[in-house]
Amino acid sequence: MTPIVEAVELSKSYGDEIKTWALRGVDFRIDQGEFIAIVGASGSGKSTLLNLVGALDRPSAGAIYIDGTETSTLDDSGLARLRGDTIGFVFQFHYLLAEFNVLENAMMPLWIRRRVSKDDRKWVKELLDRVGLGGKFKSKPAELSGGQQQRVAIVRALANRPKLILADEPTGNLDSQNGALVFELLTELNRELGIAFMLVTHDDRLACKAQRIVAMEDGNIAADYKVDQVEAASHSALAG
Ligand SMILES: Nc1ncnc2c1ncn2[C@@H]1O[C@H](COP(=O)(O)OP(=O)(O)O)[C@@H](O)[C@H]1O
Ligand SMILES: [Mg+2]
Repeated sequence: MTPIVEAVELSKSYGDEIKTWALRGVDFRIDQGEFIAIVGASGSGKSTLLNLVGALDRPSAGAIYIDGTETSTLDDSGLARLRGDTIGFVFQFHYLLAEFNVLENAMMPLWIRRRVSKDDRKWVKELLDRVGLGGKFKSKPAELSGGQQQRVAIVRALANRPKLILADEPTGNLDSQNGALVFELLTELNRELGIAFMLVTHDDRLACKAQRIVAMEDGNIAADYKVDQVEAASHSALAG
């Protein structure tokens, strides 16, 4: 099966005369339906990797294939189209539009891209129900808690039926209890919808709930492993 994303020797530098190498030749792939947590110290390149994988930014060297298309072959509008078809984004801050209600905010990516069908509306309403916002369609963002606002942002990311959700510290602005609930919700949506998730988190306890953990260090991938293998290994070690 074609990976959703494949990065080859991916590098990114910032600055002209004095270059900061935020990524130093990273190979990386995301398969359909995976749930990946990206961890690492501040400045290790997590956001840079996420932004390149999501084609929000272009690499300084190396290549990225999204859904089989090499992104350097596309101009900016082609890239935007591929991104819109394939990927949904969730950020630390929800960026909901204050004048629009919950349903309108969640529908926004659909309105921007195409005619909205009955099926689209039904899908978004079902998702809002699913994340516990069934009674809040008409509420404005300011009337919601931080956790609820982030749930709207998650539904908005799912509205276009993407193959991959990218989330940069999606629980970073929430208290630990709400952060854990939102993280749990993301893992459930991953299982129920079969969509791949890649998310950056500072919280190691949350990261352990992912299927796969990628640890960044100084612009490199220092470790990349499947969580159940580690669990299985520690279980068999206990059993043995
Ligand atoms: N827009 C930018 N301009 C200059 N340097 C940047 C920019 N974005 C990131 N960096 C640098 O690249 C490195 C990696 O940053 P980042 O990917 O944001 O790390 P993380 O998300 O792990 O904290 C850091 O040294 C950071 O200072
Ligand atoms: Mg970051």
